[in-house]
Amino acid sequence: MDLLSIDSLTDQQIAAILDRAGEYFSSDRVGRSNDQLHGRIVFNVFYENSTRTAMSFATAAHRLGASAIALSVERSSVAKGESLEDTARTLNAMRPDALVIRHRENGAPATVAAIVDAPVLNAGDGTNEHPTQALLDAATIRHRLSRTDGLTVAICGDIRHSRVARSNAKLLPRLGAEVRLAGPPELMPGNIVPLTVDEAIAGADVVMMLRVQRERLEAELGDAPGEYLARYGLTSERLATAAPGAVVMHPGPMNRGVEIEDRVADDPDRSLITLQVEMGVPVRMACLEMVISAAA
Ligand code: NCD
Repeated sequence: MDLLSIDSLTDQQIAAILDRAGEYFSSDRVGRSNDQLHGRIVFNVFYENSTRTAMSFATAAHRLGASAIALSVERSSVAKGESLEDTARTLNAMRPDALVIRHRENGAPATVAAIVDAPVLNAGDGTNEHPTQALLDAATIRHRLSRTDGLTVAICGDIRHSRVARSNAKLLPRLGAEVRLAGPPELMPGNIVPLTVDEAIAGADVVMMLRVQRERLEAELGDAPGEYLARYGLTSERLATAAPGAVVMHPGPMNRGVEIEDRVADDPDRSLITLQVEMGVPVRMACLEMVISAAA
């Protein structure tokens, strides 16, 4: 079984991942090595930069007793022009037990999955999907607010380029949440009726801000310093219009002072941003365990 998109998971598999992650998170098992995947080898192949996703997949593998081996793509034969397909064939010949891939092109993990015998996990492909991020976001919401059902989640910012928004917009409604998408008109996909950021945040239980993905924007936004924050960012004033007790999320990395104000990002009562990172390990443990045991 591969984990390429939210659509590739059944409701039962989603529930199993969230439950298992919850067990790993709440018990001290996450701090202890478990030998569930002893002797297994996980390849981490990241064609795009990553701190959270790459390190938490590696940590998750080690916590389960597996070894994680990272290919430094920029120092690999990719830099000599080797194609994605040939790289996949080469890596497959070493018989990994799972392969985690991040790539700038939409669909690259599916291309690799068609070649590699082991399960392939999508760690973010272009502007398409980032399923394990959505799973860890759902696990974080569930941990903090005890449920996802009936909640309103505002996802605000660069929706057009965000694989995090796409995966969450698929996952959270399946878990009973209402998702509102909002952002600057030029950063919204053409197929949805845009809400203003203010409309989306009003009364929301969860406010998830997205990074302005300057590497995917052909032209710079051309905003003056402070302009994005004032027009579209999460300030304390905007957060005050959300539901009482609303929580703040961001997949990271943050552009502080652009899409989110420092004091909101660092608010110890409302910000779940560090909890999201922490939750990344048990969620990816649950994902690796599921796909590798299905292959065994
Ligand atoms: C995101 C990504 O790379 O998709 N980061 C992450 O995985 N936590 C979001 C981003 O880069 O803005």
